[in-house]
Amino acid sequence: MATHIDGKALAAKVKDQVRAEAAKLSRRPGLAVVLVGDDPASQVYVRGKEKDCAECGIESFEHRLPAETTQEDLLALVRELNADSAVDGILVQLPLPAHLDEEQIIDAIVPDKDVDCFHPFNVGRMVIGEPVFLPCTPAGVMEMLREYDIPVRGKRCVVLGRSNIVGKPMAMLLTQSDGTVTLCHSRTERLAEITREADILVSAVGRTRFVTADMVKDGAVVIDVAMNRDENGRLCGDVDFGPVEQKASCITPVPGGVGPMTRALLMRNILTAAQNHQG
Ligand code: GUN
Repeated sequence: MATHIDGKALAAKVKDQVRAEAAKLSRRPGLAVVLVGDDPASQVYVRGKEKDCAECGIESFEHRLPAETTQEDLLALVRELNADSAVDGILVQLPLPAHLDEEQIIDAIVPDKDVDCFHPFNVGRMVIGEPVFLPCTPAGVMEMLREYDIPVRGKRCVVLGRSNIVGKPMAMLLTQSDGTVTLCHSRTERLAEITREADILVSAVGRTRFVTADMVKDGAVVIDVAMNRDENGRLCGDVDFGPVEQKASCITPVPGGVGPMTRALLMRNILTAAQNHQG
């Protein structure tokens, strides 16, 4: 039976550290959260982030805009927040409504306030191993591996999903920790043959029960990044948890695994931004 990696407890520890460091600053760190439209999942995420900010002594400034907001109006808000000295970090909740150009909005955020680590400047810094900010979800996973003394060096790591937010930066951070990484996606052939080789398997696909026990090596570490709903509307990940936990050595539950760590690492990035802004 696998050890359950307790993301909630680890996240509390990270947030305690952030709160202690934030208290040493001359002014409270500030996060501007921009939410366009009324996507229910995004509203839940944004509420969670605001609660985390309150726990960490970080000011949050909420900007809720209607779904019909134009690209020009959203760009104008981003520019205003770029210039606002009370704002250390800017988070534009994704996905944006379809008529808006996400890439252009992300590019408009000044890199020193890009606490998501989505801006090409910060992605580039991360890839060459000189990060300013770390991408929150992949950095949260790396922190979990460290805290549970799970070695990455020399290990076979398989990442499922090639998104810019999770899959690609996850593969990069595992590589920088000396893992041997295979990045799989929807066009990958003979997927199960590859996943069965994984010492560390990270799934970010977004499909309930996608990772079945026959895809997992005995003793593997299984990290589930997804947040799906099952047929009963319950929150679940990609991993067929019951059967897979019989084979894995360590596994992250959903909820209570990677999700809280993503949010905690965002708090750490806001602290970093505030420390940089305050010299
Ligand atoms: N939507 C889903 N996850 C995220 C995230 O980490 N940051 C932002 N900005 N939007 C998201």
